[in-house]
Amino acid sequence: MGKGSAERRIHVKTAGDAGYDICLQDSFGALAGELAKLGCEGRRVCIVSDSNVAGRYLEAVKQEVAGCAAQVETFVFPAGEESKTLANVQELYEVLIRAGFDRKDFLLALGGGVVGDLTGYAAATYLRGIRFIQVPTTLLAQIDSSVGGKTGVDFDQYKNMVGAFHQPSLVYISIPVLRTLPEEQFASGMGELLKYGLSFDAEFYEWAIEHMEEIEERDAETMAYMVSKCCQLKKYIVEKDPTEKGDRALLNFGHTVGHAIEKLKHFELTHGACVALGTVAAAYISWQRGYLDEDEFYEIRDMNVGFGLPISFDGITEDAIVEATRHDKKMDGGKIRFILLKKLGKAFIAEDVTEKEMREAVRTMKAD
Ligand code: GLY
Repeated sequence: MGKGSAERRIHVKTAGDAGYDICLQDSFGALAGELAKLGCEGRRVCIVSDSNVAGRYLEAVKQEVAGCAAQVETFVFPAGEESKTLANVQELYEVLIRAGFDRKDFLLALGGGVVGDLTGYAAATYLRGIRFIQVPTTLLAQIDSSVGGKTGVDFDQYKNMVGAFHQPSLVYISIPVLRTLPEEQFASGMGELLKYGLSFDAEFYEWAIEHMEEIEERDAETMAYMVSKCCQLKKYIVEKDPTEKGDRALLNFGHTVGHAIEKLKHFELTHGACVALGTVAAAYISWQRGYLDEDEFYEIRDMNVGFGLPISFDGITEDAIVEATRHDKKMDGGKIRFILLKKLGKAFIAEDVTEKEMREAVRTMKAD
């Protein structure tokens, strides 16, 4: 299998409106034209970004947006999960109110998952909903969080506790931004990418393994292909189940244990690194239940290493992890919807995974 050519425009259908395009570009240069198609001419746009991304790309994006919009405002908050708060949403509302934003105006999220989620939530709630555009700059945001309309902020120690489904009007992806992404952030996106392959598409999983070198070099064509492929998989899932009543939950492969580790490690590890650890746990249970064989389990585990992702951790007990998953359980009608693999490329929802199985799976990853 070659690199494959990337689908550069993917349309996502949504209930009740026209849907939106995900467009893959080689720069920010086509942004003004895309905004014009959405009726952005003569409107106000507020670009929301974080302190890391703004330093690199805010000026370029602002110039592009100014080529279409009548007024461009900016709102930049400190980078990091700690910023994903209602307090920052409130500050953003203040900027919008002061600048006189009305229901026809736009927000534009320039950044990773935190920026996209927070901006989307502000867009969902300001004046009961205004339009917003996702311009994701991390691999994780490009392949996952910018598509599908999940928006929200954290509340106290609870991740994504307050949120809404609110679909973007456009997802504009500039592929070359991946070149400047720090190693750790790139690996984090790879954690989610491997998840797509393992859960939905074994051929894509094998493709990633075969193209490890090009992926590591961040070869432009390879990046475009893999981002496009993930967006197509995500489109397929969110069109079928926009609000996670069913199969969208399969996107949470690796997330039950992953979220628990993320929280217990106080967000010191990236999201994708935690998902990668959760993937090992879920693959282990799938092996123990006879769905995967031993070689498949070890291949899944060891591929993490190949892509700069962890296979072990220290400093947290099995009990603490099981305890943390109980919170998810409480929030989901008293059931843990654990995602397992029937085989490579075929995930399913198991509601009967026991705490004993989870403990055993976690034990295989403990480094202390
Ligand atoms: N990131 C999982 C979802 O969008 O459902």
